[in-house]
Amino acid sequence: MIKILITEFINQNSLNNLNNKFEVKYNEKLWENIDELNHIIVDYDGLIVRNKTQVNLNLLKKGSNLKFIGRLGVGLDNIDTKYCKLKNIHVQPASGMNADSVAEYVVSSSMSLIKKIPVFHNGTTKGEWPRTTIKSAEIKKKCLGIIGFGTIGKKVAEYALKNGLKVLAYDPYLSVLNDKEINTKFSNLNEIYEQSDIISLHLPLTEETKNLINKLSFSQMKKKPIIINTSRGSIVNEIDLINAYNKNLISGFALDVFETEPIKSELYKKINPEMNCILTPHISGVTTESNIRVSDFIVKKTIEYFN
Ligand SMILES: NC(=O)c1ccc[n+]([C@@H]2O[C@H](COP(=O)([O-])OP(=O)(O)OC[C@H]3O[C@@H](n4cnc5c(N)ncnc54)[C@H](O)[C@@H]3O)[C@@H](O)[C@H]2O)c1
Repeated sequence: MIKILITEFINQNSLNNLNNKFEVKYNEKLWENIDELNHIIVDYDGLIVRNKTQVNLNLLKKGSNLKFIGRLGVGLDNIDTKYCKLKNIHVQPASGMNADSVAEYVVSSSMSLIKKIPVFHNGTTKGEWPRTTIKSAEIKKKCLGIIGFGTIGKKVAEYALKNGLKVLAYDPYLSVLNDKEINTKFSNLNEIYEQSDIISLHLPLTEETKNLINKLSFSQMKKKPIIINTSRGSIVNEIDLINAYNKNLISGFALDVFETEPIKSELYKKINPEMNCILTPHISGVTTESNIRVSDFIVKKTIEYFN
C-alpha cells in the first residue's frame, strides 16, 4: 500500500479522505524532529509539508522511495526543487488556495497603517487621547505598487481596485496583462518606488530576490510608503527597513514573514509600541477557510497522483 508522511498541520476532514486510500502517518510536530524524519523517510512514497519541514538534499537522498511532495501552501523555498526534478519527484504547491486570505491581509493592513491605527491604539491604551495630534489618511485613490504579479499579486490588485486604489505592478517575467487586470499599470521598480503610497511584495525567495528591498530601494521611495511583506522575510532587508522607518523614509510596515522564523530578538527589540507597524507570525495565508481549501486541494492532488 502507498505510504504517505505528513509532517505539519492539515485539516482533519481532508486527512480522513487520505486515510481512506493510503497508509498515512501524521504528526504535525515531526518537522521539529529532524533525526526521526531522516530515519523514517525511506519508508514513504509521498510527503506532505508546510513551510517548516526542510526538504533539503540530505532528507531527499534518504527518501529514496519518494515520488510526490505536497506543499500545504505556496512558496517552495524549503524544498530542493532542483533535486526533485532530477529525481522525477513531483512537487505540488497549493497555488491560489490561500490567495484570498493573503489579499485580505494586504488590504486590511494597508487600511490600518494608512489610518495609523497601531499608533492610535498605543496612545489610547496608555490613557492619552491623540485625536488631533496624529494625522491619518484614507486608502481610496492612493497608489499601491505590487512587486511580483503572480497568483497572489493579481488577487491583491483585484481587492485593491475594489477599494478605490490605483495599482502599479512590477514583474519582469510577465509581458502582458489580460482584461481582468486592465486597471493595473505595468511599471518598472523605479516607478513603483517613486509613485507608491503602499508597496506590497508577492514574489518567491530566490537568489535573485534575496535582499531585493534594501537601503538603496528605501532611499528611492518618494512618498514615504507603507511596506507590506507577506512573501518571504529575506526579500526585504529587515535592518534597512527599521532604519528607513526611523529615518522617516517610510511611514509604516506590516511584516508577516521574517528572515528567521520565529522572529529573532535582535529584530523585535528594535520594534517599539509607538511605531506604525503590524507584525504577525506568518499567518496571512492561514485562515480557517484557506486551511480547508489548501488541505482539500493537496489531498485531491495526492490521490490523483497515486491513482
Ligand atoms: N505569508 C503567507 O502566509 C504566504 C502565503 C502564500 C504565499 N506566500 C508567498 O507569496 C509568494 C507569491 O505567491 P504566488 O502564489 O503569487 O506565487 P506565483 O508563483 O503565482 O507568483 C510569483 C510571481 O513573482 C514573480 N517574480 C519572480 N521573480 C521576480 C522578481 N525578481 N521581481 C518581481 N517579480 C518576480 C513571478 O514572475 C511570478 O509572477 C510565494 O512565493 C510565497 O513565498 C506567503
